[in-house]
Amino acid sequence: MEQYAIKGGNPLVGEVEIGGAKNAALGILAAAVMTEETVTIENLPDLRDTAAMLQAMESIGIKVERVNRHTVKITAKSIRDLVIEEDSIKKIRASYYFLGALLGKYRRAEVALPGGCNIGLRPIDQHIKGFRALGADVRIERGLVITEAQQLKGTHIYLDVVSVGATINVMMAAVMAEGKTIIENAAKEPHIVDVANFLNSMGANVKGAGTDVIRIKGVSKLHGTEYAIIPDQIEAGTFMFAAAVTKGDVTVKNVIPKHLESISAKLMEIGCEVEESDDAVRVVAAKPLTHTHVKTLPYPGFPTDMQPQITVALGLSKGTSIVTESIFENRFKYVDELTRMGANIKVEGNTAIIDGVSKYTGASITAPDLRAGAALVTAALAAEGISTIDDIKFIERGYEDFPQKLQSLGAQIEKVSTDRELQKFRLKIG
Ligand code: EPZ
Repeated sequence: MEQYAIKGGNPLVGEVEIGGAKNAALGILAAAVMTEETVTIENLPDLRDTAAMLQAMESIGIKVERVNRHTVKITAKSIRDLVIEEDSIKKIRASYYFLGALLGKYRRAEVALPGGCNIGLRPIDQHIKGFRALGADVRIERGLVITEAQQLKGTHIYLDVVSVGATINVMMAAVMAEGKTIIENAAKEPHIVDVANFLNSMGANVKGAGTDVIRIKGVSKLHGTEYAIIPDQIEAGTFMFAAAVTKGDVTVKNVIPKHLESISAKLMEIGCEVEESDDAVRVVAAKPLTHTHVKTLPYPGFPTDMQPQITVALGLSKGTSIVTESIFENRFKYVDELTRMGANIKVEGNTAIIDGVSKYTGASITAPDLRAGAALVTAALAAEGISTIDDIKFIERGYEDFPQKLQSLGAQIEKVSTDRELQKFRLKIG
């Protein structure tokens, strides 16, 4: 089984280039099926989740041409059918974006129910509510969500919860509807703005993305485009916290500092120096870390996707910290693993009460999901001794070349697949 072997204790120092945003990419790839003309997408992160989306697209006859590792050309001219149910797609959450995109363009879609990280119940009632409001019929049969409409008509939709997925999905379903759609209580994450900008570059008329009211005027046709995806806010945040926990000095490059404000603010609160420039942020952790309180919130609040990373840092910060998870109900599963590394954390409902310890020690641990997995890697990098991390397939869903990027900052980490390779790693690092 593939795992990461890590010897902790080295401060991470240097510069690291951040890739395209996974959660923008997943929406944009689906939206690319909404025109028959060729769409070129640049800065596409090379991840398990993006590969699964592309594979699903090929499975229904869409032409996918890889120009290079981060650029792809998509031509949805010869779609064979509107049923997406192949195995790889069942594992990822973003499969639901094909519902909005195919419904919007072809007035019909059948997509396997979404999988993804097991971090809570993750209903899709708001997506369905939006499709129905636009005039579509939605039903669940044979493990597929089936949606169809004779005609989609613009309307006023109030989302009952602030949902990234529902906002993007309803936006895609509405761009080719007849008339005007208003989505209220929309999510405001940077990737929502990115998907809206992408749709606009294809000829859509979407205004207000990034605020809580999105206004869409339906157009009859979308055209081809060339578009570069924004940098990944969460990949950047993960490296910024990795600098904090290893007492390092890391500059994340190719980022939009504005998207990182809530993350930078918390790092400064716990004692790090954060320097911003046009497209880079440097984090220096020269002083001991101190405690704080944090509650995850929709953007521009502190992201739920950074909750495990900040918890790992607070586990090493002086004093008592409280982390409240307000987005997903089951996102503290990794705490058991962190406790095995020496953390002192008590979870009560959606709150973690953390008493900082002076150090973690290496252990054999398992990644329970994507972000928690990455956070446990940072814990292992800070820990005394050797750790192994299993189930790294979760981490590979959202971090491109994670071990290589960490190595370039001085980390001792290797991907190993056999006991022999693990043994070799132990001998090498001495
Ligand atoms: C997206 O998930 C991201 N995934 C998640 O990233 C991220 O954690 C999450 O947004 C919040 O920022 C993708 O973009 C593929 P939501 P999504 O709909 O869209 C409730 C990662 O690690 N809700 O904003 O599924 C829901 O249960 C992943 O990269 C409903 O009740 O999240 C949750 O409590 C993990 N009904 C809240 O809303 C619905 O119909 C926010 O979920 C939809 C959501």
